[in-house]
Amino acid sequence: MAAVTAAVSVPTSTSSSSLGRIALERATFPCPDRSASFQKTFFGGRLNNSDAALLFARVRTVPLNYRQSVKAQVTTEAPATTKVVKISKKNEEGVVVNKYKPKTPYIGRVLLNTKITADDAPGETWHMVFSTEGELPYREGQSIGVIPTGIDKNGKPHKLRLYSIASSALGDFGDSKTVSLCVKRLVYTNDQGEVVKGVCSNFLCDLKPGEEVTITGPVGKEMLMPVDPNATIIMLATGTGIAPFRGYLWKMFFEKHPDYKFNGLAWLFLGVPTSSSLIYKEEFEKMKEKSPDKIRVDFAVSREQTNEKGEKMYIQTRMGEYAKELWGLFKKENTYVYMCGLKGMEKGIDDIITSLAAEEGIDWNEYKRQMKKSERWNVEVY
Ligand SMILES: Cc1cc2nc3c(=O)[nH]c(=O)nc-3n(C[C@H](O)[C@H](O)[C@H](O)COP(=O)(O)OP(=O)(O)OC[C@H]3O[C@@H](n4cnc5c(N)ncnc54)[C@H](O)[C@@H]3O)c2cc1C
Ligand SMILES: NC(=O)c1ccc[n+]([C@@H]2O[C@H](COP(=O)([O-])OP(=O)(O)OC[C@H]3O[C@@H](n4cnc5c(N)ncnc54)[C@H](OP(=O)(O)O)[C@@H]3O)[C@@H](O)[C@H]2O)c1
Repeated sequence: MAAVTAAVSVPTSTSSSSLGRIALERATFPCPDRSASFQKTFFGGRLNNSDAALLFARVRTVPLNYRQSVKAQVTTEAPATTKVVKISKKNEEGVVVNKYKPKTPYIGRVLLNTKITADDAPGETWHMVFSTEGELPYREGQSIGVIPTGIDKNGKPHKLRLYSIASSALGDFGDSKTVSLCVKRLVYTNDQGEVVKGVCSNFLCDLKPGEEVTITGPVGKEMLMPVDPNATIIMLATGTGIAPFRGYLWKMFFEKHPDYKFNGLAWLFLGVPTSSSLIYKEEFEKMKEKSPDKIRVDFAVSREQTNEKGEKMYIQTRMGEYAKELWGLFKKENTYVYMCGLKGMEKGIDDIITSLAAEEGIDWNEYKRQMKKSERWNVEVY
C-alpha cells in the first residue's frame, strides 16, 4: 500500500499566458473510493473549474489488486552477468485490447469535463473524465474509441474516432474506475468559407457531467511504456499529443506502486502554439519539485518563441538545442523515445539527428529502424 500527492491546473478566465493559471497547493484526500457527495457533485452538474482542480489533487492508495502485472523488460542496474530478458510490449501480459467493439460498446458516464486552455488560446482543449466502473482496464499509452451520438450525412450512425488515453491506468481518481481524455475542439473554415465543426471532438468537448458516452477499445500497443523503471524515456509531443505522456508521468511521479518505482530519467518536449495553450504545465512543475533529478521538461511555444536564427520554435527546434545530448541518449540501450501528435514533427526530428549520426558514420534511418525493431522508437502521429 502506498500514497501519492498530485495537483492539476486549470486556466483562469482570460489570461494571455500560462502565468494566469491556477497552480494548486498540494492537497490530500482519503483514498480512492468515491463518496456519495462526490457523485452528487458530479451528477448534479455543479462542478466548476475549482472543484475539478480539487478533485484532481489527492492522495492515492494503490491496493495490490489494482496492480498491473509487470514483467522485467530491461534491468539496467543488473550485474553484467545476469541475463536480462526483454519482453516485447506486444506480448506483455495483461494488456487488454478491443474488449469493447462498436457493436458491443461500453457506455461510460461523464464525471468531469473542463477546458484546460485559457480563453484567449487559439482553439480549445478539454480534459474529461469518464466513469468505467473498472470495466475498461487499460494501460498507459493505449487509446479508446468514441462513437458520437447522431447520424452522418448518409443517415448512418457516426463512425468511431480514436483518442489517446490521458490518464494513468489507475485513472485520475486513483481507483482504476475512470478513463480521461484530452481533446482539441476541431473547428475550421472550409473552401466555401463555411465554419465546420468536427463531429466527435465537438461532441466530446460539449459533454456535461452525468451524460453518457459510447466507448470502444482499449486499443494500441505502440505507446505502451517501458517496464524498466530505470529507463530513460524521451517524450515528444505536439498539442494534445501530450495525452499518453500525462499517463506515463502520473505513474512515474504521482503514484506509488509496489512493483514500479521510477528511477530513470523522463524528458518531455512539448510543442504548443502559445503559452496560453500549455496544457498540464502545473502538473509538470509539481513533478519537477518532487523529483528534480528525474524529470526534464522543455516547451516549444511556436507563436511566441524563435531560435537564434529567428526561426519558429517547433519541438524539433527546441530539441536542436540539445541535439548532441539527445543523440548520446538515443545510443543508450535503455533509452526509449516516444512521439505523439502531428505527423510533421517526425521529419523535423530526423533532420536534427541525421547529421550528428553521419559524423559518426551512422545512417540515422537504419539506426532508427533498429531502434523501432527493439521498441525503443515509438511513434503515434496523426
Ligand atoms: C491514434 C489516435 C489518437 C488520437 N488521439 C487524439 C487525442 O488524444 N486528442 C485529440 O484531440 N485528437 C486525437 N486524435 C484525433 C481524433 O481521432 C479525431 O480525428 C479528431 O478529434 C477530429 O475528429 P472530429 O470528429 O472532431 O472531426 P471530423 O468531423 O472527423 O472532421 C475531421 C475532418 O475534417 C477535415 N479537416 C480538419 N481540419 C481541416 C482544415 N483545417 N481544413 C479543411 N478540412 C479540415 C478533414 O477532412 C478531417 O478528416 C487521435 C487520432 C488517432 C488516430
Ligand atoms: N495518438 C495520436 O496519434 C494522437 C494523439 C493526440 C493527438 N493527435 C493529433 O495530434 C495533433 C495535435 O494537434 P493539436 O491541435 O492538439 O495541437 P496544437 O495545440 O495546434 O499544437 C501543435 C503545435 O505543433 C506545431 N506544429 C505545426 N506543424 C509542425 C511541424 N511540422 N513540426 C512540429 N511542430 C509543428 C504547431 O505550430 P503552429 O500552429 O504555430 O504552426 C503547434 O505549436 C492533432 O492532429 C491530433 O489529432 C494524435
